[in-house]
Amino acid sequence: MDRFIIRGGRRLEGEIVIGGAKNAGLKLMVAGLLTADRLILSNVPKIADIETMQTLLRQHGIAVDPVDAEGRTLSIGGPITSVEAPYDIVSKMRASILVLGPLLARAREARVSLPGGCAIGTRPVDLHLKGLETLGATIRLENGYINASAPNGLVGDRILLPFASVGATENLLMAATLAKGRTEIVNAAREPEIGDLVECLNRMGARIAGAGTGTLVIDGVEALTGAEHAIMADRIECGTYACAAGITGGDLRLIGGRVRDLGAVVRTLEEAGVEVLEEENAIRVRRTGALRGVDIMTEPYPGFPTDMQAQFMAMLAVADGASMVTETIFENRFMHVPELNRMGARINVHGSSAIIRGVGHLSGAPVMATDLRASFSLILAGLGAQGETSLSRIYHLDRGYEAVDRKLSAVGADIERLSDDR
Ligand code: UD1
Repeated sequence: MDRFIIRGGRRLEGEIVIGGAKNAGLKLMVAGLLTADRLILSNVPKIADIETMQTLLRQHGIAVDPVDAEGRTLSIGGPITSVEAPYDIVSKMRASILVLGPLLARAREARVSLPGGCAIGTRPVDLHLKGLETLGATIRLENGYINASAPNGLVGDRILLPFASVGATENLLMAATLAKGRTEIVNAAREPEIGDLVECLNRMGARIAGAGTGTLVIDGVEALTGAEHAIMADRIECGTYACAAGITGGDLRLIGGRVRDLGAVVRTLEEAGVEVLEEENAIRVRRTGALRGVDIMTEPYPGFPTDMQAQFMAMLAVADGASMVTETIFENRFMHVPELNRMGARINVHGSSAIIRGVGHLSGAPVMATDLRASFSLILAGLGAQGETSLSRIYHLDRGYEAVDRKLSAVGADIERLSDDR
């Protein structure tokens, strides 16, 4: 297993290119299930979750072929030869559940393993299933699998989501593109990745209105066609490197980053004393004064994203004054706290809130990654700390961040990837 060795205390300065968004790319690949034609996706990030999605699509019979030498453009499509998403893939990556709606819409049946819980919470899929039932699917849960069928096709209807779930919105949205008649998804999630998915689906011939508004209206069509689409820049990767500038007192130009996608993150950075400037096709982030404590509550977009919570906590650990971070999306997303405390942070968790009392500095230590975003919070802590941090279990990080050591070294960080097998 690989680990990172980080020698902290260096100010980061320079440019980092932000890659294609993991959370958009995965769904856009799944959209390839909706057509027999070819969907050409560019700006595909080189991360493990994208590889897992390729494996899943291929086992449904869908061809996934690299168009360029680097595999940053993929051609996806073909006949569906298997409607089963097996346990070994779904348990590795929860986003696999998103094949359910498209399989049901195009092949009229699906057998998808139940994902089960994960490190950050129980994460049920009841809203996905209820919504598909509203569209006329019959669903049986058996032997750990979701067996879904709609022999005469799905039929449009009004779906009211009690919570604006990102995954449920996407699953239902994709299913509804091929349903008979009109579907309305009320209290739909408004995350920018959903806007990117809608843009691509409409290019494929879908008729979807209302992206970003909370109500999606989908008029079903007979069939979708191929299309070309470039995956949007990853707003969470962008926000993460903004925190790297923040904790090191640095000055970074994040190429491809967009202020409008970052929602509440920009305001929170500024409140914490980190300057954010919009430039052409980039965001410049720098800190010249002290970091200040801020209060944060995670919320669906455009609120503060839960996927940025751990990274901010690392930064706030060394801010002047106290901060309170309240997590409202996932019930168990503070696993980075004991690791940050081992590096000298003063953080207490009370239920769904964490109180952070800023300390003068963190000190390097051996720490362990527990999930994707928590892994990066420990890298940030290591970058800002005095001394050496060794971060193990970085396979979590490889799922969603590309070339972390290369990107950070290029802007002045002292970070090295070591293989324990060496
Ligand atoms: C997506 C993102 C993830 C992000 C999250 C919230 C992907 C691949 N993942 O996850 O990075 O942290 O949005 O922004 O895009 N819930 C239910 N029933 C359901 C569905 C969800 O109770 O049927 C609950 C979940 O347990 C969780 C909350 O709703 O507590 C949010 O989940 P959801 O918005 O669906 O997140 P994901 O799509 O899983």
